Amino acid sequence: MEQDLMRILTGGWVAQATFAAVRLGVPDVLDGRRLAPEEIAEEVGAHPGALHRLLRLLAGVGLADADGDDRYGLTPMGAQLRGDALGPLATLYGEDYFASAWDGLAHAVRTGEPAFEHVHGEPVFAHLAGDPGKAAVFNAGMAAGASFFRGVPDAYDFSGARRVVDLAGGTGALLATVLRSSPAARGVLFDVPEVVEAAPAHLSRMGVLDRCELVGGDLFDSVPEGGDVYVLSRVLHDWDDERCAVLLANCAKAMEPGAELLIVERVVGQDSYLPLAFDLHMMVMTGGRERTEAEYRALLTEADLTPGRLLDLPLGMRLLTATR
Ligand SMILES: C[S@@+](CC[C@H](N)C(=O)[O-])C[C@H]1O[C@@H](n2cnc3c(N)ncnc32)[C@H](O)[C@@H]1O
Repeated sequence: MEQDLMRILTGGWVAQATFAAVRLGVPDVLDGRRLAPEEIAEEVGAHPGALHRLLRLLAGVGLADADGDDRYGLTPMGAQLRGDALGPLATLYGEDYFASAWDGLAHAVRTGEPAFEHVHGEPVFAHLAGDPGKAAVFNAGMAAGASFFRGVPDAYDFSGARRVVDLAGGTGALLATVLRSSPAARGVLFDVPEVVEAAPAHLSRMGVLDRCELVGGDLFDSVPEGGDVYVLSRVLHDWDDERCAVLLANCAKAMEPGAELLIVERVVGQDSYLPLAFDLHMMVMTGGRERTEAEYRALLTEADLTPGRLLDLPLGMRLLTATR
């Protein structure tokens, strides 16, 4: 029991060690290779002895392993920390402003107020709007943590979709995935103006820019009309019930009868740990929350939308449909 408790108490150190390895570029240097600590240190510009100790811990938690000559390589899980996999998500979680928001958790629990604002003096999205460097790291982290997007066109049939509107769609990773699966569909990417401005490069790389309309705006004012499929991916969990009611009412207002809304989120209740960890993460970052299926259905019904099917996506994500 004490061992288990010590694991919990030191879990933050393991996360910090992982962030440091990613910041140093260790996973990319070890991609497909097995090297001695001195060789890795040379390539990433680190102190060999200190790096060796970092590698030993990474091996201890299953991210790396060493052969009989003490040469280190990545395990399949560790390989997920490469820059072209989940590395940008680790970079985001390791950012000082992101991690230090958790210092305000006790305040958030005491008062119900978001920790981020207490610690940093402004809401997280205002913070990002004022700092393009942080916004770029945030958007890259969101895109990297979105490998489950590939499963969206498998779970939901977009073949009849004409105009897909991705609300608060970031730089368009999900919209691009959907449009690539549905060559006849066009897309509307809606987000705050600073984020939408950064989207063309990503959409162009995915080969769908010519089928996309980019709209900068505020979800709480109004959302674009005329879509037959609307998407809210990892958006409702950013907001409390009152704000969700406003933005879902705006969706309902913009949607024609028969149009469909797809809610992509983690759903509390299906497994015990990750949705609950993300629930506190949302309490810290935005004052939002992760919800049960019943809570999502109630929010949709209150906005005059009819909840439909709950579909499984990869990585424990879910897709809930709703019709106008
Ligand atoms: C957690 S990210 C999700 C991005 C994307 N949908 C995904 O699943 O990767 C939340 C997004 O909401 C956007 N956002 C925040 N406040 C907004 C507002 N008032 N109006 C429009 N977009 C907003 C942010 O810029 C960000 O891209």
